[in-house]
Amino acid sequence: MKKYYLTTPLYYVNAAPHIGHAYTTVAADVLARFHRANNRPVQFLTGTDEHGSKIEEAAAAARLGVKEFTDRNSAAFRELWTHLDIRYDDFIRTTEPRHESRVQECFRKLQESGDVYKGRYRGFYCVSDETYWTETDAPPDEKGRRLCPNAECRKPLQEVEEESYFFKLSKYQQPLLDHYRKNPGFLMPSHRANEILRFVEGGLQDTAISRTKVKWGIPVPGDAEHTIYVWFDALLNYLTAAQSTGAPGDFWPADVHIVGKEIYRFHSVTWPAMLMALGQPLPKSVFAHGWWTVDGAKMSKSAGNFVDPREITREYGVDAFRYFLLREMPFGNDGNFSLESFRKRYNAELANDLGNLVSRVEQMVDSYLGGAMPGRADDAKPSLAKELAAKGAEIDARMEALDFSGALGLMWECIGRLNTHVNEKAPWKLVKTDKAATQEVLFDLVRSLRIVAGWIEPFMPQTAAKMHAQLGVRQFPAPLSAEHVLAGESANTGKILKAPPLFPRK
Ligand code: MSP
Repeated sequence: MKKYYLTTPLYYVNAAPHIGHAYTTVAADVLARFHRANNRPVQFLTGTDEHGSKIEEAAAAARLGVKEFTDRNSAAFRELWTHLDIRYDDFIRTTEPRHESRVQECFRKLQESGDVYKGRYRGFYCVSDETYWTETDAPPDEKGRRLCPNAECRKPLQEVEEESYFFKLSKYQQPLLDHYRKNPGFLMPSHRANEILRFVEGGLQDTAISRTKVKWGIPVPGDAEHTIYVWFDALLNYLTAAQSTGAPGDFWPADVHIVGKEIYRFHSVTWPAMLMALGQPLPKSVFAHGWWTVDGAKMSKSAGNFVDPREITREYGVDAFRYFLLREMPFGNDGNFSLESFRKRYNAELANDLGNLVSRVEQMVDSYLGGAMPGRADDAKPSLAKELAAKGAEIDARMEALDFSGALGLMWECIGRLNTHVNEKAPWKLVKTDKAATQEVLFDLVRSLRIVAGWIEPFMPQTAAKMHAQLGVRQFPAPLSAEHVLAGESANTGKILKAPPLFPRK
């Protein structure tokens, strides 16, 4: 079976990773874990983008050699991913030989086919975004300054005039439009598709893809004066990683590239055009998610308001952080991060709705049944566990569509239903008159919680593992599916443990 191949952007190593980078990576990890849980082989790629003037300047400012600087900062990303339980399959650095040599090969191939040619570039450049802009893209403001037209950036532009190699992007206008039309799932989410369609319909200009002023880059083959433009280099990573020697197979094309909205155009216009020029199949889809503001403001160096994921996880744990990121804002939309809303959700949804429910059920099984569960449930009778299992398809459909907050919403509806059920059945009263009925109610709740544990695994792997262990699941394919819970009781009859709260109240 072909692997489900998904990617994050390669992050610039000019600064430390923050909540924005963590967001994309956690989302990709959740999707990867979801597909793995459904027995689909997965290839999950992430990595770091290490060439170009932005990195060159940041290394100089840090008074470090560029190599040492990039080694150090790339490692910081890797360490954060380990801390956040990100299970990637491959981590690519654009400074690796497996990447650099293939980029040069691709460059040469396009030169031979005539899609890359030499010319002269005159225009503007944003170092922060590593993006070229024309005079019309960036007219002077009232103070005569030209600022980056990207609303998330707005930094002053450099004026550039140099000899440059160009990529014939203009040639791919119609093929791109045809591709979008024939593949409605390519531009995701659909509400972001229009912006790309308008842009491409407006006409495409050939783009500069080499710099003479930037030394820290992959040399243009046969022309040492030039280095390859960092985006031309970086985009190719998705292909070079999939096809690099030593990798366990060729995973190309990708099923989905997950990216932030500010780099959507590179991924949905430039990149597919490059692939067409190279004669490679296109990715199945490119999904652009929105941006986080912090307490209503844009994160920036000058505001000094970058959210460090470790500060949050120190207080609330890794799982709560992963949960919040995907619960708070619908994937594809913009949203705001505040510690206040974090604490609210943590207490209401994790400590109360889920954590407290698990504790109560475990406590009751311990006190009323000595921690033991019967070997079989009577599945001819209606049960909550069966009701929950029937919800699975709907949750899966949301996950397939990358609607993470929607999937969590459905799960929490079910958790709410379980809480109501506990209160209605009041096992603490029932146990005084009917032990067999109490046992049935509690067993149903335990089985339902085993199902919930399987559902939340992609989002909260540590919590799912704790729940499995506490709820007597002794042997299971990880994570446990609803079908296994219903079918495989003999494997799920370990003792129910009373354990400390999953999410202590804050
Ligand atoms: N190096 C390029 C990508 C090359 S891909 C071939 C780049 N790197 S980056 O370090 O700037 O990371 C960009 C990604 O970080 C965005 O696509 C987005 O995933 C994430 N975010 C950065 N700030 C963000 C927010 N404030 N909110 C949400 N995500 C944001 O661009």
